[in-house]
Amino acid sequence: MRILFLSTTAKPERWLEPLGAALPDDEIVVYPEVGDPATIECAIVAVPPPGVLTGLPNLCLIQSLWVGVESLLHDPTLPTDVPLARLVDPGMTETMTETVLQHVLNAHRDYEGYRAQQRAGIWRHLPQVRAQDRRVGFLGLGELGTAAARTLAELNFAVAGWSRRPKALDGIETFAGADGLHPFLARTDILVCLLPLTTETRGIIDARALAALPRDATLINVARGGHVVDDDLLAALDSGQLGRAVLDVFNTEPLPAEHPYWTHPRVVVMPHVAAETDPATATAQVVENLRRLRAGEPLRNVVDRAAGY
Ligand SMILES: NC(=O)c1ccc[n+]([C@@H]2O[C@H](COP(=O)([O-])OP(=O)(O)OC[C@H]3O[C@@H](n4cnc5c(N)ncnc54)[C@H](OP(=O)(O)O)[C@@H]3O)[C@@H](O)[C@H]2O)c1
Repeated sequence: MRILFLSTTAKPERWLEPLGAALPDDEIVVYPEVGDPATIECAIVAVPPPGVLTGLPNLCLIQSLWVGVESLLHDPTLPTDVPLARLVDPGMTETMTETVLQHVLNAHRDYEGYRAQQRAGIWRHLPQVRAQDRRVGFLGLGELGTAAARTLAELNFAVAGWSRRPKALDGIETFAGADGLHPFLARTDILVCLLPLTTETRGIIDARALAALPRDATLINVARGGHVVDDDLLAALDSGQLGRAVLDVFNTEPLPAEHPYWTHPRVVVMPHVAAETDPATATAQVVENLRRLRAGEPLRNVVDRAAGY
């Protein structure tokens, strides 16, 4: 099989070695060296240049190297008759859980408060809350949200999650759909966003949602910047409704130098590093989908284009 590697972000050299080793009988070519477009059956993509995929008449699979596929779905030239699979990488899931744990524990144990006290030379105990009394809530209970939620539940945090369709998860309180959102927010001290960016979830963290949280809550956004209405978030921080925000993703990336988040005393800015794809662990999923494609078996992690994720 001829496979086209197409990316404007992922460095091909990181991927070609593990992919080549796992697919010794296939030919992997890197865009723009396509050769005869009719011989390409699979495209492995990370933010491909628009229009290229339309020119591949015998394409059977578009395999994304990204977990979130919103930018691909916004490309009007994306072929509609070819299955699109997103990446689910166990290495990335592990890293995301680690990141969520880091920021939840920092908020839970008031790390920033102690840092501020140190800068002022203050020796003072701050209130210590037990994990069972700290309510952590996950917007999104998919691959990443569920893994992080389970880890926090194992540490005795009071964990809940919100999803599109109802779900039952041991030890995790679940809410679903539009009606479930505000009751979910009202019981959440630390809100972690792990939603995909879709037409339904864009701007979901707005003034209404922030007002539904208990006062002095923490927001940790490790999903996409488009989930947040920045002006509403800044207003909620400035009014004291929101205690602090940890933002890994932004409406414009890199975050513009003049953006108020950079210098806000209660905002932590991270440069979109919550969880990177690890080619070593992600390759197995790409290889498995190619095996399924050849065997005529159902593909894994196919994107529901109507739902947008
Ligand atoms: N910052 C980073 O470094 C980084 C790295 C990787 C991924 N991400 C982001 O993380 C996102 C989540 O990844 P994932 O693999 O966990 O996705 P996923 O497995 O597709 O899970 C998405 C979750 O969101 C829920 N959801 C979707 N639309 C909803 C809606 N309208 N209302 C309520 N719930 C909704 C889904 O509900 P159902 O369970 O009912 O389907 C599901 O629980 C990605 O899309 C990406 O944007 C960020």
